[in-house]
Amino acid sequence: MNTQNSTLNILFIGDIVGRSGRKVVKAAISEIKRELDIDFVIANAENSASGFGITLNVYKELAGSGIDAFTSGNHIYDKKEFIEEVSKFENLVRPANFPLSSPGKPYIEFEIKGIKLLIVNLIGRIFMPLSDCPFNRLDDILQGKNDFVTIVDFHAEATSEKNAFAYYFDGKVAAILGTHTHVQTNDDRILPGGTLYITDVGMCGALDSCIGVVKENSIERFLTAVPVKFDVEKKGKMLFNAMFFKLDKNTKRVVEFKKIYKIYGE
Ligand SMILES: [Fe+2]
Ligand SMILES: [Fe+2]
Repeated sequence: MNTQNSTLNILFIGDIVGRSGRKVVKAAISEIKRELDIDFVIANAENSASGFGITLNVYKELAGSGIDAFTSGNHIYDKKEFIEEVSKFENLVRPANFPLSSPGKPYIEFEIKGIKLLIVNLIGRIFMPLSDCPFNRLDDILQGKNDFVTIVDFHAEATSEKNAFAYYFDGKVAAILGTHTHVQTNDDRILPGGTLYITDVGMCGALDSCIGVVKENSIERFLTAVPVKFDVEKKGKMLFNAMFFKLDKNTKRVVEFKKIYKIYGE
């Protein structure tokens, strides 16, 4: 049996931070596509435009680099342009548990190689802006979606909240990929019910930075409590964090996965 045709190969990329992140993502996608047969690429783009939000140009640039679907998070409304031109960000989801009238799509459906994919982004409620319950909202979204394979980006700060969410939806969705902390965790595994889970996929951007930002900016803010402007770090080695996984067309489960942590540059 040709396993190539019975699986859907997906690459999920952690938070892309500014131009540094975009550059490393472009290089990494073309490199990974030479090594692995990738059918669909998803990326968290909440920090892709100068570290805060996304613009239409950045969206188009990233789509041109090979990203098919975009997730986001607490920074999605940082650029006015996103709110004003929201209908043009066709393949981007905002957190589904934001208020129902929030700009942007709460989820998107795709059909790739005969598999119906449902991409959902939800946001946590610990150390995060006000939102509705992510557990209840995802339960509602999954109603009537039995023939879909669901991939969830759970954008949250607290590892406890992420763990509880993952166990609650274990067996009900194919994969739960954590984002937001920008630090890749080492707990990637298939949960007892069959769902692929990682607490945080990590980020794409400068390695020697505070989660993508110039480290001196961050240190100064901690030392002085003055709201220092955060600039995206552009120098030095670049980090690329992602998760590759194979979905079985028949069982709709992840059958193989590989966490990716690559460093580029001198
Ligand atoms: Fe982020
Ligand atoms: Fe975030």
